[in-house]
Amino acid sequence: MNPNGQTTSSESEFAFTDTEFKRLTGIVRELTGIVLGDHKKEMVYGRLARRLRKLGMQSFAQYCALLDSQNANQETGFLVNAITTNLTKFYRESHHFDFLTDHIGRIQSDTARRSGDKKVFFWSAGCSSGEEPYSIASTVLTRFPSLAQWDVKILATDLDTNMLDTGKAGQYSVNAIKDIPSEYRRVFNDNTTKKGDKIYIRDRTKALVHFKQLNLLHPWPMKQKYDAIFCRNVLIYFDAETKHMLVKRYTDLLRPGGMLFLGHSESLQTKIKGLTLIGRTAYQKEE
Ligand SMILES: C[S@@+](CC[C@H](N)C(=O)[O-])C[C@H]1O[C@@H](n2cnc3c(N)ncnc32)[C@H](O)[C@@H]1O
Repeated sequence: MNPNGQTTSSESEFAFTDTEFKRLTGIVRELTGIVLGDHKKEMVYGRLARRLRKLGMQSFAQYCALLDSQNANQETGFLVNAITTNLTKFYRESHHFDFLTDHIGRIQSDTARRSGDKKVFFWSAGCSSGEEPYSIASTVLTRFPSLAQWDVKILATDLDTNMLDTGKAGQYSVNAIKDIPSEYRRVFNDNTTKKGDKIYIRDRTKALVHFKQLNLLHPWPMKQKYDAIFCRNVLIYFDAETKHMLVKRYTDLLRPGGMLFLGHSESLQTKIKGLTLIGRTAYQKEE
């Protein structure tokens, strides 16, 4: 890198100045809420280099010019998909699924719910490629077969359209489920269509999960209240103010007694009215 913060062509394929980095991170923050500090410059370069190559560009200056042009709208989707971090896995932070199991047990034995509309709604907010909402579905189907008589829906939303496509397809590598308890495995793996080293999510499991694109910073269309919301390993990318605002909105959207699960490094530093910590990054809305 030269003294102007410019990555020179002898070092890298594309010139990338600090000013261009700041411009890009500003656009990403405005679009997604994701905050990218200076130490992320190489990551941003790495994730966008392929896109520049595809567009036949020679520099990040050209790419910034495209994002400032009238054609920016078509490009922002590619930018967002390239920048988001989508790491996930089945039954990640498995203790949350123990809390979920207890919570569903309470719902099922609640006399008012049993004689009411029998609706149970879950939301995986920032679902990435689907492993999280399918883990919720698997918990429901494995632990509570009688909930089949209820109206159970799992909303799975993300900003990244590539991840949503993977979730909808419901095909994963066999290795993706090798570490999960065997009792859960059978609702994932559809042996009728099993080919090679892929597993195929069973139709019955897929039917519970509804994938939709949703930017968490935008208005939310949902009107119903949720029994549990998973927003794990998403808030970590936002600033404190955005995180606080989102957790307040999740709290408003929960039924009394509903659960909110955050990622392992996302514990709330400030108290949110009506929300109680009941376990490791597991919160419950007051009854
Ligand atoms: C690291 S993944 C977490 C996946 C899953 N929740 C888990 O814990 O395994 C973070 C996800 O948040 C999504 N995301 C980031 N900013 C978002 C936003 N503003 N609106 C919706 N989703 C967003 C990303 O696209 C990414 O798929």
